[in-house]
Amino acid sequence: MNGPASAIGTSSFVPAPDNGRMLRDVFGRFATGVTVVTTRGPDGCVAITANSFSSVSMDPPLVQWAPARSSSRFAAFTDALHFSIHILGAEQESLAYEVARDQRALLRHAMEVNDNDVPILQNCLARFDCARHAVHDAGDHAIVVGEVLRAQMREGLPLIFFQGKVSRLHSN
Ligand SMILES: Cc1cc2nc3c(=O)[nH]c(=O)nc-3n(C[C@H](O)[C@H](O)[C@H](O)COP(=O)(O)O)c2cc1C
Repeated sequence: MNGPASAIGTSSFVPAPDNGRMLRDVFGRFATGVTVVTTRGPDGCVAITANSFSSVSMDPPLVQWAPARSSSRFAAFTDALHFSIHILGAEQESLAYEVARDQRALLRHAMEVNDNDVPILQNCLARFDCARHAVHDAGDHAIVVGEVLRAQMREGLPLIFFQGKVSRLHSN
């Protein structure tokens, strides 16, 4: 009799400095959506692509995401009192990579500002306008928790991030 399917082709290890690639691959087994987080920093509009987003609490309404300390955008986001998290739709792959490469990419896109003067993008699948609730240390990242002041959504399919690649959902 065959063993459980989960035993086929598995590898297990203890995370250590010399196997970071494998740990990254295991993290990558978790499929996420893709977001663009925006804020107004001391030098103007800043954006970052982030897949570390998740919803946290209904009461009060809280969400979180994790900026990397290594990012040149880290301080702008950990200092920000207000920020917006945009969930990207399936057709917004190029925006995800453009913002990942260039924190000022928003300047090339149609932008508005919300009630708290945060730059916001139009036509995303959903948006959360947030006020900073907490910022926690988390190793080489921080966890930024936002209180949702306003939420917005439209119909459509999400962009997906899985195993290091952006892709689309395949509906049957
Ligand atoms: C799909 C995707 C998801 C990402 N998720 C995160 C994230 O959750 N947190 C983060 O700090 N950077 C994330 N990044 C990287 C940033 O978008 C950006 O490329 C990085 O901060 C560049 O740093 P720099 O400003 O120092 O060049 C992601 C990039 C991509 C393409």
